[in-house]
Amino acid sequence: MNTTAIVLAAGQGTRMKSDLPKVLHKANGKSLIDHVLGNIAAAGISEQIVILGHKSEQIVQSLPQNCLIAYQYEQKGTGHAVMQAAPLLEKAQGDVLVICGDTPLISPRTLQNLHALHQEKKAAVTVLSAIAPNPFGYGRIIRDNERVIAIVEQKDATVTEALIKEINAGTYFFDRQFLLENLPKLKNDNAQGEYYLTDLLALAVEAHLPTAALIADFDEIMGVNNRLQLAMAQKYLTQRKLEQLMLDGVTIINPDNCYVEEDVQVLNDTILWPGTVLKGKTVIGSGCEIGPEVEVNDSTIGNECHIKNTVINESKIGNLCNIGPFAYLRPGTVLADKVKIGDFVEVKKSTIAEGSKVPHLSYIGDATLGKRVNIGCGTITCNYDGKNKFPTTIGDDAFIGSNSNLVAPITISEGAFIAAGATVTENVPPFSLAINRAPFVVKEGWVLKKRQKEQNQ
Ligand code: UD1
Ligand code: CA
Repeated sequence: MNTTAIVLAAGQGTRMKSDLPKVLHKANGKSLIDHVLGNIAAAGISEQIVILGHKSEQIVQSLPQNCLIAYQYEQKGTGHAVMQAAPLLEKAQGDVLVICGDTPLISPRTLQNLHALHQEKKAAVTVLSAIAPNPFGYGRIIRDNERVIAIVEQKDATVTEALIKEINAGTYFFDRQFLLENLPKLKNDNAQGEYYLTDLLALAVEAHLPTAALIADFDEIMGVNNRLQLAMAQKYLTQRKLEQLMLDGVTIINPDNCYVEEDVQVLNDTILWPGTVLKGKTVIGSGCEIGPEVEVNDSTIGNECHIKNTVINESKIGNLCNIGPFAYLRPGTVLADKVKIGDFVEVKKSTIAEGSKVPHLSYIGDATLGKRVNIGCGTITCNYDGKNKFPTTIGDDAFIGSNSNLVAPITISEGAFIAAGATVTENVPPFSLAINRAPFVVKEGWVLKKRQKEQNQ
């Protein structure tokens, strides 16, 4: 689309009661303004101007490189906000979309439909509207028969106008020439003393230019002004994501108890049990069973994995792995195919090759494990001396007996056998046994003798 978008985000967002600028609040893992910019881009509009004012420094940092920024130092209304972008508008061509930074649900499809209507009607202004069950607070769309002739703000509305349920979503397409010629004509002689962008409709009508309105679903045009609306937006976005996944072949046992962020991919025939939380750039393969109670952040999981009651952060898991219940995989963990990580196991920044097992109660940190390694219950890689971290290397087919302490840096070579309870402080050569045990002694009747001695005292 040969079009420029202006995103209004200079307002304070007072009702969020937050130190964070409103448009940086997140819904389904992405900030409100990220959603809006993403939707605009997906509609095919690449030229984007963001109007910033309140707490602009914080917002600037989060914007994509290609965004242009115009500053509105004092917030004197939506018309005044768009005026700040006028110098940038003169340099390009095509229609101008104006949208608010706090309406994350307006879909790319709706933006395209709005533009199509705008072009079909050859309109000076085309506004996105909706029928609101409770229109209080919104600008009302005034029609003369079918024709849109004005938008009246709540505070300026007559009693009759206030009864109108068709409201202004705050999203519009403008003919660029019309916009540039008429912005300077806006006045602030209204109840709020603001320059209203919405007055451009009446100006178009005065100039006998066509206007139009596209009526969208009220759920979609909802803006986020407070935390209740943030939660509603969140719910809507999650629902939309889960519906898409289900249509793409993912089974979701209870969609009301599943959270999957926008950029997450899940392949078909995977089952998501309740309490599944998938965030960031996570990718889940096909035929997996995830959950109950699994959180995965920025990780890749292969096909046919079973994962229960587990947290996985920034890790890469192969195919046919079995993880949990109650495992914790920390950043830098790489599991090859057919690896088992069982209950109460923590793995950090470690690579584990195919077919290896860490079935219970272990800590594996800064380690490299070969193939078919078996780590006995209670094994710990002692990777930290209080100052520095050291690596552990374990060769193929090594067997680590239960309750072993592997004091890093250490290498346990291929096929080595570590006896249960060993504290391993030296490298173990291939196919060797490592054992360190004090002689085991049984003293029969010792307890009875001790008691007798105590009684005699
Ligand atoms: C505006 C519309 C109203 C519509 C409503 C939809 C006007 C005059 N009214 O209401 O018809 O129903 O949106 O939500 O346009 N902003 C700035 N600079 C300003 C003022 C606002 O950048 O000086 C930004 C805000 O950050 C926000 C957006 O514009 O993203 C809308 O502002 P807001 O105050 O929420 O809307 P209203 O002006 O009340
Ligand atoms: Ca408002």
